[in-house]
Amino acid sequence: MSDSQQENAWSVAAREGVSGDGVGATRLRRLRRTPGLRALVREAHLDVDDLILPLFVTDGEGLCEEVPSMPGVYRESVDLVQERVAAAVALGVRAVILFGIPAVKDSAGSGSYDAEGAVQRSLLLLRESFPDLVLVADTCLCEYTDHGHCGVLDPRADVDNDATLDILGRVAVSQAESGADLVAPSGMIDGQVAAVRTALDRAGHSDVGIMAYSAKYASAFYAPFRDAVQGAPAFGDRRGHQMDPANAGEALREARQDLGQGADMIMVKPALAYLDVVRRVRDSFEGVPLVVYNVSGEYAMVKAACAAGWLAERSVVIEMLTAMKRAGADLIITYHALDVARWLREKR
Ligand code: PBG
Repeated sequence: MSDSQQENAWSVAAREGVSGDGVGATRLRRLRRTPGLRALVREAHLDVDDLILPLFVTDGEGLCEEVPSMPGVYRESVDLVQERVAAAVALGVRAVILFGIPAVKDSAGSGSYDAEGAVQRSLLLLRESFPDLVLVADTCLCEYTDHGHCGVLDPRADVDNDATLDILGRVAVSQAESGADLVAPSGMIDGQVAAVRTALDRAGHSDVGIMAYSAKYASAFYAPFRDAVQGAPAFGDRRGHQMDPANAGEALREARQDLGQGADMIMVKPALAYLDVVRRVRDSFEGVPLVVYNVSGEYAMVKAACAAGWLAERSVVIEMLTAMKRAGADLIITYHALDVARWLREKR
């Protein structure tokens, strides 16, 4: 080494806080040496309390059908859902979110506020059987409309924003009456949080909260979900109301509006490709519970790769969900919830 090279190495070492022999004050590997040290300095923690399990409920009895593009996820009748929830509760899962698959759909999505609907009946039963379980109901029309859009349509076949608001209010009230703790308007209809809040309050449900799908993107990652609920739009797409995946700043406007309208929790959806958005929302709205939705396409990708033997499911899922926590999420809606709850229990 020439004199000037030596001088250079030392000045770099000094700047980085490393002493000349390379065993310096900032040797970062020291705290990674053992599992105990790593646990001691871990920044983000994944816990069973963070998990929300999605459930697809149908009419009928004794029905249980696996969703082809989502191995391990089922469309189930109300009676069988009880058993799955019992297993989840036994593993410490504290919350579920319900999606309904009605036998009949119509242009106004009227099944969405039917007191005898699968979601409403499930809520009643689960409320009775699991008094401490947090029950969340997805509040949207797309599973209930024959055209598959998230609201009623205007003469140009576009979602009629304001006509849809009235229906969403009715849906939320019927869900609250059936025992929901939280309703989750997911249609990205402008003003949906205010409409739902007003309707709930007027019906005497001021104690029922709102988990707002605030930054919900027009994502191709929802395809397996639409398979599950047979709710793909019959024509067109949802880019006219869901967010453009290219936008992050706009997510802050959405979250601000929803909070202004009375949202108790806000959400970013999907999760994996949007962790920068999660971080920005977290930093802008400290103290507000922030939910991420680890969506169906994210689940399907992992399941497919693991079935092929290309990825190790447990490690990959824990890594992904921990990254969501690191990005700033408080809660994670995930189809992996039951597995993760089991893995976390085994770890202890
Ligand atoms: C709308 C709704 C959708 C999802 C949750 N709520 C579908 C959509 O917006 O097209 C997608 C969830 C997932 O992909 O896991 N009710």
